[in-house]
Amino acid sequence: MGGMLEGQATKDGTSRYVQRCAGRMPAEHFREMAGGARASTLGLGTYLGREDEVTDGLYRKAVTRALERGVNVLDTAINYRHQRSERAVGAALAAAVRAGGVKRDEIVVATKGGYLAFDGEVPSDPRAYFVATYVRTGIIQPGEVVGSHCITPRYLLDQLERSRANLGLATIDVYYVHNPEQQLDEVERPQFLTRMRDAFVALEGAVAEGKIQLYGAATWNGFRTDPGERGHLSLAELVGLAREAGGTDHHFRVVQLPYNLAMPEAFTRANQKLEGGFFSTLDAARHLGVYVMASAAVLQGKLTQALPAAFADLMPGLATDAQRAIQFVRSTPGIGTALVGMKSTAHVDDNVGVAAVPPLGGEQVKRLFSEG
Ligand SMILES: NC(=O)c1ccc[n+]([C@@H]2O[C@H](COP(=O)([O-])OP(=O)(O)OC[C@H]3O[C@@H](n4cnc5c(N)ncnc54)[C@H](OP(=O)(O)O)[C@@H]3O)[C@@H](O)[C@H]2O)c1
Repeated sequence: MGGMLEGQATKDGTSRYVQRCAGRMPAEHFREMAGGARASTLGLGTYLGREDEVTDGLYRKAVTRALERGVNVLDTAINYRHQRSERAVGAALAAAVRAGGVKRDEIVVATKGGYLAFDGEVPSDPRAYFVATYVRTGIIQPGEVVGSHCITPRYLLDQLERSRANLGLATIDVYYVHNPEQQLDEVERPQFLTRMRDAFVALEGAVAEGKIQLYGAATWNGFRTDPGERGHLSLAELVGLAREAGGTDHHFRVVQLPYNLAMPEAFTRANQKLEGGFFSTLDAARHLGVYVMASAAVLQGKLTQALPAAFADLMPGLATDAQRAIQFVRSTPGIGTALVGMKSTAHVDDNVGVAAVPPLGGEQVKRLFSEG
C-alpha cells in the first residue's frame, strides 16, 4: 500500500534513540527484546477514551510528546476505540518521522487482533456490518466466533492487514493474539490448543513475509489464574506450540499481562508449570525467553493518587504517586515494559519523570510488599 512506512524496530535504530536520551535518563530505562531492539521501560497504551475526533487528537499529541520524551514503545489494538487508536498512533508516528523527530527503526509498535472491531464508530446495524464484512466475504465461518472473538488464521491475517493499513506500517513489531483465554469460555482445551497452534503457524508466516517482527499473547486473566481453572494459560504450553509452528527460532517472544500494585499475581503466584515444578509467570517468561509488557500499570488511573506514605520513603527521587506506581512495575524482576494509557500530554510529562531514576533492585521491590 502506498504511504506505508517501511522498516521495523532494530538494535541499531533503538540504540540511536537510547543515545539521544542519554543526557536525560540512564540506559537502564531501556531493555532488550528478542531481535535486539531496545524498548523503553515505560510504554504508551491507547485503550481508554471516547470514540471521537477530540480523543483522536489527544492521542496524536500524547504519542508525539511521548516519542520526544523517551518513550519508544507504543501499544494499541484493532478494537481499541473502534480502530481509532491504531489510526491515531499511525498518524502521529508518520508525522514524527516526516518531521525528522524519530526514525521508524527507533520505535517498537505493538498491536493485537482477536476481537471483532467496528470501523470508527458503532454502525447503525452492527449485525449487518458483521455479516457484510466478515461472513459474506468468507473471512469468518459459522462456529469460529466465541462471543465477539475469533482467532482463526484467515481472520487474524485479515485483521493484520487492517492494522498495517491503520498504522501505516509495512511491518508491525509485535502482533499479539488478543486475550486468547476468551476462547476457553466455550471451547475445550484440546481444541483451544489446536486453534492457538494454527494461529501461530499463520503468524510465523506473517513473520516470514516481513509483515510482523515478533508475536505473542496479550492476556487479562490467563496468567493470573491457577492451572485447572478454566481460563488458565500455560506459558510453557504456548511456547511449545510456537516451537511446533516455527522451530526453536520461533517468534513467540512477547506477552502482555496486567501487573500493578493491586494485581501482582504475575510476580507472586507460582502458577506456571515448567520442568522442575511451578514458577511465577515472570520467572517462566524469563526462562522461556519471552519479553513481558505489563498492562494497566496504574490500574486504570486508580494508583495515581493516595498511595501509602511509605512508598514515598521507599522510592526517593520520585515526585508523584503515578511515578511510584510505575516504578514498582518497571522495577519488578521479569517485567520489561510498563504500559500506561496516556491521552493527556500532562500525564506523559508526569510519567516520564520516572525514567530519570534507575529502576529499584529486586530486594527493594520485595520491601514494598512487606512495608507498603
Ligand atoms: N488485555 C489486554 O490486552 C489489555 C488490557 C488492558 C490494557 N492493555 C494495554 O495496556 C495499556 C495500559 O492499561 P490501561 O490504559 O487500561 O490502564 P492504566 O495504564 O493503568 O491507566 C490509564 C489511565 O490512567 C490515567 N493516567 C495515566 N497517567 C496518569 C497520571 N500521571 N496521573 C493521573 N492519571 C494518569 C490515564 O489518563 P489519560 O488517558 O487521560 O492520560 C488513563 O485514564 C492500555 O492502554 C492498553 O494499551 C491491554
